[in-house]
Amino acid sequence: MKESFIIALDGSAASGKSTLGCALAKKLNCLYLDTGVMYRAVTWAALHHHIDPTDEAAVSALAETIRLEILPPNENDGRQATILVDGTDITWEIRTPEIDAHVSLVSSYPGVRAVLTRQQRDIARRGSVVMVGRDIGTVVLPDADLKLFIEASVEVRARRRYEERIARGEPADYDAILAAMVRRDKLDREKPISPMVPADDAIIINTDNLSPEAVMSRALALLEEALSAKKERA
Ligand code: DC
Repeated sequence: MKESFIIALDGSAASGKSTLGCALAKKLNCLYLDTGVMYRAVTWAALHHHIDPTDEAAVSALAETIRLEILPPNENDGRQATILVDGTDITWEIRTPEIDAHVSLVSSYPGVRAVLTRQQRDIARRGSVVMVGRDIGTVVLPDADLKLFIEASVEVRARRRYEERIARGEPADYDAILAAMVRRDKLDREKPISPMVPADDAIIINTDNLSPEAVMSRALALLEEALSAKKERA
C-alpha cells in the first residue's frame, strides 16, 4: 500500500483495539500510536511527583512540562512500545491497578487533553498512522480515512485483562478487575469533554466472538474499501 492513510481506532478498555492496532500497523508498515499510554504516563508522573490526581491545575501544569517519548519496543517482553517520561522507562509501571484507578480522572482534564491532543496530531503529520484511543475519530483526527470503533462486552474485556495480568505473572482478581472496568467505562463514557462515543461515520466491530485474525481481516478489507472510495472521489 503506497498512498498515505490515517486509521482511527477507538473503543473501550481491553476491547481488542490495541492488539488490532499494533497488528495492523505491522502489516501496513506504518506508525502505531496507542494514545491511552499518554494519559497513563501523565497519571504516572503525577503520582511519582506526589501530586494529588484530583488537583486539576497541578496535573495540567505537569502535563505541559514532562518529556514524553513513545519509542519502538527496545525489549522483547511483550511490550508494544517503550514509554519514557523524562528518560525513565515506565512501560510496565503505567499498567498497574493504581494507574487504572486514576487515569480516567486525569484524562478528563481539558488542560491535559489539549497538550496530548496537540502531540497526537503532530505525530499523525509524520505519515501513515494507526492511532488508537477513545476520541481519535471524533476529536483528534476527524478526517481519518478509516474510523473503527471496537466493542466487546465488559465480562469478555475483564477476562482478557485478567489473563494478561496472569500471563505477566502478576496477581489478578477477576471480580475486582470487572468492577474497576465497569467504573472506568462509566467515567470514560460520561466525561464532559471527549467522551468515548463512536464518530457518526465510524464502523462498529464487536469482538466478543471474533478471533484477532478475523478482526484483522475485516479491518484490512474496510481499509481497502475506504481507500478506493477516496481515490474515486479525488
Ligand atoms: O486505553 P487505555 O485503557 O490505556 O486508556 C487509559 C485511559 O485514558 C482511559 O481511562 C481513557 C483515557 N483515554 C482518553 O481519554 N482518550 C484517549 N484518546 C485515550 C485514552
